[in-house]
Formats: sequence, C-alpha cells, structure tokens
Amino acid sequence: APIMPPDLSKCHDAKAPALHDHCCPPYDPSETISEYGFPATPLRVRRPAHLVKDDQEYLDKYKEAVRRMKNLPEDHPWNYYQQANIHCQYCNDAYYQQNTDDVPVQVHFSWIFLPWHRYYLHFYERILGKLIDDDTFTIPFWNWDTKEGMTFPAIFQDASSPLYDSKRDQRHVKDGAILDLKYAYTDNPASDSEIIRENLCFIQKTFKYSLSLAELFMGDPVRAGEKEIQEANGQLEVIHNAAHMWVGEPDGYKEDMGDFSTAARDSVFYCHHSNVDRMWDIYRNLRGNQVEFEDKDWLDSTFLFHDENEQLVKIGDCLNPTKLRYTFEQVPLPWLGKIN
Ligand code: C2O
Repeated sequence: APIMPPDLSKCHDAKAPALHDHCCPPYDPSETISEYGFPATPLRVRRPAHLVKDDQEYLDKYKEAVRRMKNLPEDHPWNYYQQANIHCQYCNDAYYQQNTDDVPVQVHFSWIFLPWHRYYLHFYERILGKLIDDDTFTIPFWNWDTKEGMTFPAIFQDASSPLYDSKRDQRHVKDGAILDLKYAYTDNPASDSEIIRENLCFIQKTFKYSLSLAELFMGDPVRAGEKEIQEANGQLEVIHNAAHMWVGEPDGYKEDMGDFSTAARDSVFYCHHSNVDRMWDIYRNLRGNQVEFEDKDWLDSTFLFHDENEQLVKIGDCLNPTKLRYTFEQVPLPWLGKIN
C-alpha cells in the first residue's frame, strides 16, 4: 500500500539532538484537511542563483519575503523556523506511520525523496510569494551542474541579509571554493579545474547509468509499514548529500545544512533542492516524460502540507512541475555530452 500521512495529533520527540529533540509543529485540531487545489498562476520560472545575483529587484523581493517569514509569530505555520522544522519532522522520526508504533515517516532513502521535496519546496515558494503578494515569485536554483554555479551562491553570503546563515563551513562558502560533488568531510586535493571536470563527469555518469532504471536515480520503493533503509537511496540523493555536508559546519552536529534536523534553517537548502528538483525534471525529459514508476504505491503515496489549511497531495500529481505552475530557466548542460 502507498505511504500515507501520519496522524498529526501524534507528533513526539524527534531524534534530533541539535534541536534538543523538539521539532513538532503547533497542532490545531480544528484545522481541516482537504485535497489540494493546484494553483492557477502564470507559469513561474526558477532561475539560477548565480545569474540572479545582479537582479536587484528580484533580490529585494526574495529578501523581503524571507524577512517577513522570519518575523511571523513563532508558532505561525509559515514562520521560517516552523517551515524548517517540517524537514526535521519527516526526517528525524517525529511521526510514526499510521497503524504502527515504531515505523517512522521518513522522506529520504527511497522513491519518495524527490516528490516529497518537490512539494515541500512548492509550498515554501508559494508562501514566500504570498507574503510579498507576488504570484510570480520563485526561489532560485543552485546551478551546481555547471562551472559557473559550482561555488557557494553569493546571494546567501551577505551577513546583513535575511538569506544569511552563520552556521556554515566558512572555508567552503567563502568566494571561490569549488563544490566537490563527492565530498564527505575530506577536501579533494585536486585543482579547481580538475574538481569541476570530475563533477561534470560524475553527473554525466549518473544520468547515463540510471536512464534505463528509475530506482538507480530516484531510490528504491518503500511502501506503507516498511522502514526505509539508507542504502536504498538513489544516486541523485547521494550527489545531493555532498552539498549538504560541504556547506554545514565541519564539527558538532554539522549544522545547519549537514544535519537533517537543521538543514532547512539555511535558506540555501531550498536553493540546493531546487536544483535537485531540476535534475529530476531533466532526467524525466531525457526519458521522454515516461512515468518513473507505474506503481500505485508510488503514485498514490500521500503527503500533508500546511498552506491555508492542511492540504493532501499525491505523488502522482507532481510528476510534471507545470501542474504546480513552475518551470526552470533553460541553461546549458555542459555534462550532457553523449548521454543519448
Ligand atoms: Cu531532505 Cu537535502 O534533504
């Protein structure tokens, strides 16, 4: 059977030492749960973070939206830290699956990784848009699959901006360090140009080897009542982990980006995931828009997100981002090479 959302009244301590194990949202039993009405906005275009850097008008809006989100009352579901806690709830075992008392709802390590994060970003982006009353607002993507985008995006580096986060590995996020897509807490001694080349080859191989088998790219099946196992993750998730580790602090709980419970407290999280989401979209296009898993247990897996109220969403409804009314600016894919 498909994974179903948890009983929201039963949030408990998470396995999240960085947050003293607390990341449950305020619970309001009077809130209604309903099917999500997909937005009817104009098609919104997400752009690369390194290219919006000089678009002052856009940046002002983005910063203002995040500033407002941070200034909402602490217990408001749209509050910046409440939004970040959602990630903790679904990654650090704050909810058990319905009808079980020890199987957590876990959105990593399986075929629900990409769809769950797609919806998570979607609701986050829509909330930011509403806070500045702009239906066209999009979050940028960290274009780490191209040379120009392989450094930490400058727009998150200004210490006076709401997009800033002090809990990062300063050696990496400072100007010019090249992100290593195989990073796991050891710096790659190769030259910058060599790391860039390795990254592009790695992305190319990932696509090439997984084009004919969606599990390899997306992650293995997980069904109701089953526990995820870490080794079941897809190769895109593996690549994505490198950026988390590379941005987070090297010590302690690796906050913010390097720990599930705190990762989404850094605004760059959403920008990073926007590119992960884009990689999925490219993968899908390369496969002629074929449905990755013709399996009811995947297509009917259901999540809950808080918009105006609690909204039920199914994986089967997010496979094409245009249904969510967004798309990505087309930029060169230097790794594509001879994949086809
Ligand atoms: Cu839920 Cu980048 O992880």
